[in-house]
Amino acid sequence: MTTRRESIQERGTYSDHNKEAAYTRFLSQNPGYDADQIDHLRDRQYSRIDQQQQIYLDYTGGGLHASSQLEEHMELLSRTVLGNPHSNNPTSQAMTNLVEGARARVLEYFLASPDEYVAIFTANASGALKHVGESYPFMDGSRYALTYDNHNSVNGIREFARARGARIDYVPLLTPELRVDQASLDRILARARTDRPNLFAFPAQSNFSGVQHPLDLIAVAQEQGWDVLLDAAAFVPSNRLDLSRWKPDFVSVSFYKMFGYPTGVGCLLARKPALERLQRPWFAGGTITLASVQADRHFMATGEAAFEDGTVDYLNIPAVAIGLGHIEKLTIERIHDRVEALTAWILEEFLALRHDNGRHLVRVYGPIDTDRRGGTITVNLYDPQGRLFDYRRIEELANQEQISLRTGCFCNPGAGEASEELTTAEIEAGFAAGPNIGFPYFISVIEHNTGKSAGAIRVSVGIASNFADVYHLLRFISGFVNVESNKIGAVEFDIDSCRVIRDGA
Ligand SMILES: Cc1ncc(COP(=O)(O)O)c(C=O)c1O
Repeated sequence: MTTRRESIQERGTYSDHNKEAAYTRFLSQNPGYDADQIDHLRDRQYSRIDQQQQIYLDYTGGGLHASSQLEEHMELLSRTVLGNPHSNNPTSQAMTNLVEGARARVLEYFLASPDEYVAIFTANASGALKHVGESYPFMDGSRYALTYDNHNSVNGIREFARARGARIDYVPLLTPELRVDQASLDRILARARTDRPNLFAFPAQSNFSGVQHPLDLIAVAQEQGWDVLLDAAAFVPSNRLDLSRWKPDFVSVSFYKMFGYPTGVGCLLARKPALERLQRPWFAGGTITLASVQADRHFMATGEAAFEDGTVDYLNIPAVAIGLGHIEKLTIERIHDRVEALTAWILEEFLALRHDNGRHLVRVYGPIDTDRRGGTITVNLYDPQGRLFDYRRIEELANQEQISLRTGCFCNPGAGEASEELTTAEIEAGFAAGPNIGFPYFISVIEHNTGKSAGAIRVSVGIASNFADVYHLLRFISGFVNVESNKIGAVEFDIDSCRVIRDGA
């Protein structure tokens, strides 16, 4: 058996020498890949990636910005005097115009009629989701239904629902594709009491498996008396969300995932009738029309104003309009096709990687082709004896090669549980040691007791990805062909609750 360092033979398949031929083959198999315009853009607007020899493959974690976005934003800030938009003076009015212009641009980008939808600026997608959770009028007899593969910021809404007496129903996924179990969903949706508020939440694209759930589910649920919350955070960076066609009641997005900059701004897109049913649990500066200390009364503002607590991130909001302009110039369709082509190639190559004994190196969670899936690919690696490689060590080794991957559970525990078919008893054994155990201990208990993995490796491609990035990734991954899982060295860091922990930290 060879060690990882010796396993050059397979890596040789992805040598510089073979790269040109592989690229030609890739182009002939993937005509959707736009080799001219976006490659050119990468050279001009994202040149820092190659200058620093970074292989960025975490677009589901965060998108990357083009340098022109920064230049345009800095130019705007340098030539304008802008004040807090809550005042009525000239600098405040100038700022208000920019914020309202960006708001209109967001609605326009998502093809949402301003007669029908409201765009509420939030700190991020989680902020949008929290608004819905804390203000949705759950009550005894209500239901909160959600698919297994939601991000924790959607899972967390169950705590608001439970506190107000609603019942929580998780819609299972079917393995191995990790798509919704339609029969279970139909049963759950049919149980709603139509005289109670009911909320159904699902991701337009899973940030774990890349699965894109059918957007037809929106109308199906609404027809049965449900409001629908569509978490579009992982979908919109490389897919068109057309709100003139699809009519979810609530949509959550984070703009940094779409175009990298600015961070700190997300959005809740809400249908006006659904928004009117929300009941805010408090008021803040900017959310009321009138409040009195002595009378102990307040009147809430209407529309987006009722949900933007205090001062919005006003200097950054114009950068959202700039970012949307950047995407529009490229077109989301072109980004989509390119992401799809790169995803197809990664999947194909991953599945072709085998040890000499014929066993697969890579296990892909979810769909293994590009049918109804996006550019997020989650995997684990197994050695020739079928033993799991520690994903944390794989990440450390990737780090040494300047490859940015994501590992862990990606704040999406349900998809991981479904993909490994973990039972409730197996998971509860992991929780048994109490609240201080943390994720590293939890996964070690799960792996020790069950031999299953409670974490994985995620690769995601996006707006600035090119063939060279994914070729480099394949070269790295193929280095584990014919390598034993205990020959790659010890893990040096851990990830707990999406935070990296190093010894002594
Ligand atoms: C599908 C999905 N929903 C919600 C979120 C939360 O986004 P944020 O961390 O920007 O609030 C993420 C982040 O990864 C996500 O992928």
